[in-house]
Amino acid sequence: MANLIGDTLMTDERLDSVAIIMDGNGRWATRRGLDRTAGHVAGAKIIEGILEHFRAIGVHHVTLYAFSTENWKRPKREVDMLMELIYKYLDSVVVKKIKSDPDFSMKFLGDKSILSKKLREKCIEIEEMAQDRTFVCNVALNYGGRDEIVHAANAAFADGHTSITEDVLAKYMYTSHSPDPDLIIRTGGDFRISNFLLWQSAYSEFIILDTLWPDFSNDDIDKCISEFYSRTRRFGGLAPEDKNA
Ligand code: IPE
Ligand code: IPE
Ligand code: MG
Repeated sequence: MANLIGDTLMTDERLDSVAIIMDGNGRWATRRGLDRTAGHVAGAKIIEGILEHFRAIGVHHVTLYAFSTENWKRPKREVDMLMELIYKYLDSVVVKKIKSDPDFSMKFLGDKSILSKKLREKCIEIEEMAQDRTFVCNVALNYGGRDEIVHAANAAFADGHTSITEDVLAKYMYTSHSPDPDLIIRTGGDFRISNFLLWQSAYSEFIILDTLWPDFSNDDIDKCISEFYSRTRRFGGLAPEDKNA
């Protein structure tokens, strides 16, 4: 059961890290007769409120899938628009937030080297603005789970490791500063991982919602939290009640 403090739902150490595949922006716009890019604008608008709600209920790490290594296959117009939207969002909303909120920080997961110079420098500026804060929002940007594993292995070898262990590889993952996600939520209804957190999701709980990302609400979060606490995580072992059987 989730903890209820007063009337408020609060998470505990069992649910400290959440990752979200923010899918469905294009469909949200198309259903309204709008250009797909309008869906990305609507999707960006809800992010701050969603982060605040996770934080209010006690989650310290939220990882958002913003752009995959495969999303470059989309029409240039959509990719250019997304990159500009991400830049503007970081430059306005995120910079302001980090300045005014002593507990908030942001890190980027993915290969920054092929981002535009302007965007790459903004990401680095934001990472350097805030370190060791209690809440971390990880933004997966030009992120691919396979790319991350290859990158980690190469980085480990370059640092002089001659063999790879799970601990070594984990240290070189883009996510080394955050715990593996306890819960992964995907909006938009598709039951697939789309190259997200392949290494870190080994024992994550999955919740798929039909809700399209721009419609995702605090109410959806609360339902996901309740669903998470109704599950028994066994990590390959036995549930406490089975051990006594
Ligand atoms: C997710 O929404 C946002 C990104 C991949 C950047 P989509 O753009 O994939 O929306 P759908 O899945 O086409 O509706
Ligand atoms: C996953 O969504 C990537 C992001 C949400 C950034 P996609 O829309 O790219 O995934 P597929 O193509 O449906 O698998
Ligand atoms: Mg999609």
